[in-house]
Amino acid sequence: MEWASTTLAFYGLGAAALATSLVTLRRRLELSKAKHRTLTGHARMARRVASLVPFYDYDDSRFFCSDDAPEEVAARRRAGFERLAALYDTRFAETIRRTAEATDGISDLQFTDAYRVPFQYGRVVRQHLKSAAFVQSSAGVMLTDLDGNQFYDLTGSYGVNVLGYDFYKQAIGRAVERVGELGPVLGPYHPVIADNVKRLKELSGLDEVSFHMSGTEAVMQAVRLARYHTRRSHLVRFCGAYHGWWGDVQPGIGNPLPAHETYTLKDMSDDSLRVLRTRRDIACVLVNPLQALHPNASAPTDSSLVDGARNAHCDKDAYAEWLKRLRAVCTEQNIVLIFDEVFVGFRLAMGGAQEYFGVRADLVTYGKTLGGGLPIGVVCGRKHLMKRFRDDRPADICFARGTFNSHPYVMAAMNEFLRYLETPRARELYRDLDRTWNARAQRLNRRLRDEALPVEVANMSSIWTVCYLRPSRYNWMLQYYLRAEGLALSWIGTGRLIFSLNYTEADFQAVGDRFVAAARAMQQDGWWWHDPAATNTLIKRRILKEMIAHRLSPKRDCTQRR
Ligand SMILES: Cc1ncc(COP(=O)(O)O)c(C=O)c1O
Repeated sequence: MEWASTTLAFYGLGAAALATSLVTLRRRLELSKAKHRTLTGHARMARRVASLVPFYDYDDSRFFCSDDAPEEVAARRRAGFERLAALYDTRFAETIRRTAEATDGISDLQFTDAYRVPFQYGRVVRQHLKSAAFVQSSAGVMLTDLDGNQFYDLTGSYGVNVLGYDFYKQAIGRAVERVGELGPVLGPYHPVIADNVKRLKELSGLDEVSFHMSGTEAVMQAVRLARYHTRRSHLVRFCGAYHGWWGDVQPGIGNPLPAHETYTLKDMSDDSLRVLRTRRDIACVLVNPLQALHPNASAPTDSSLVDGARNAHCDKDAYAEWLKRLRAVCTEQNIVLIFDEVFVGFRLAMGGAQEYFGVRADLVTYGKTLGGGLPIGVVCGRKHLMKRFRDDRPADICFARGTFNSHPYVMAAMNEFLRYLETPRARELYRDLDRTWNARAQRLNRRLRDEALPVEVANMSSIWTVCYLRPSRYNWMLQYYLRAEGLALSWIGTGRLIFSLNYTEADFQAVGDRFVAAARAMQQDGWWWHDPAATNTLIKRRILKEMIAHRLSPKRDCTQRR
């Protein structure tokens, strides 16, 4: 009898253990299924693979025919390259000289300089098409460098510049006047802060506000609050989405440590919703609405543009539908839904992505333009989520400070920005935004098509990316032709063009003329020649072979970087 009950208990325990392992296994499988099939979707593997990529580069002759182009094409490319180099050396002489002097002491500049183009081409490019990192003034939609050259600004200052530089210059000027009497007193608030809070609550539709010094910090705080209130550990981010450079939101390449409490899931996927429904450790879901332009892909940069596979298309309705479903699952599972609107807030619509897509979040982060031209990060949120202490547990707090948060000058510049949104001029600027920018993108694409140029743009309102129709290894060269035509891009090149909303039709026409001229010159110089048999996959495969060959015999054709 005793033996029988012991055996029964034993089997019972075994069955329970088996059931638990099966549930765990099922959860693991669900998680695997919810990962995007690319390396971007597998952060740990991506870091491992990245650590295996060997450095090698092309010498002066291979540079022009790395795709085995015929000699005549390589010669045309060389002539075009030399012409560009001569133009850069003369037209941007002083700016280049000052940049070269400063680069050695500015680590950021060394980094951006190294990652402007695919690394195999970097040495030759850096030698001849030198970086010109300085500008001296801005006016309207133009920037002027140290040589007096004027450029149409397509950098958008990383997205800060929504209303045009003149606006921010005035906002900062007025802010200095308004709070000058108080000066940089930190701790006690300048009264202007109360007005900011009132306006932010109205614009976000949320109950409370906290101020920080950058978008990265705002995201850190939003995630920390979500963890504190749900008492759960994990955050979910979607494949490819950027949320600043804090470790937990950057689990892949770029972060020396693995992010153990982050799940990177497929955007716009039922598999991801299933994970949200079944896991009990998820505190929050972070959404960067910019991903609507390229779901599951990282921000496009020219440094990885080794072929023509860049792809982008914004399906606003489909993304809105996805956000609605995500919202419903988060509500059902008590998961905090965070919209990271640091980039798109106040750009897509006055009420940001919440208004644009018609979905409300529990916490929203803002930054960039909201500072009226000065550094800022803001969290707006529902009351119960913003609270940093518990009434019944006085020692259980959610700590967040920051010496410079609520800086009077920043608060006053923010107030200028927020007040401006109420003016008829601002309302006019925001009216029919999508129609305006979609029409401009279509017009440019029509012009490019009419001239049979193998390039087109995709956009999400005023945020654009350049896509390439040829499986070419040299698409990244377009950034240098654009610069020669007086169009300023940020260091990620043609991956992201950011327009300020004060671009007039005439400004835009001029940008279009220059864009087409740049593409035409690049075409004439032979960079878009391609072997008819070449495909993007074949190009990637060949590059992989090159890498393996260099990994196996590192000295072959290999030059030291810099
Ligand atoms: C969506 C998003 N979140 C967070 C950040 C980080 O903001 P910051 O650079 O101010 O730290 C950025 C910056 O580009 C961003 O685009």
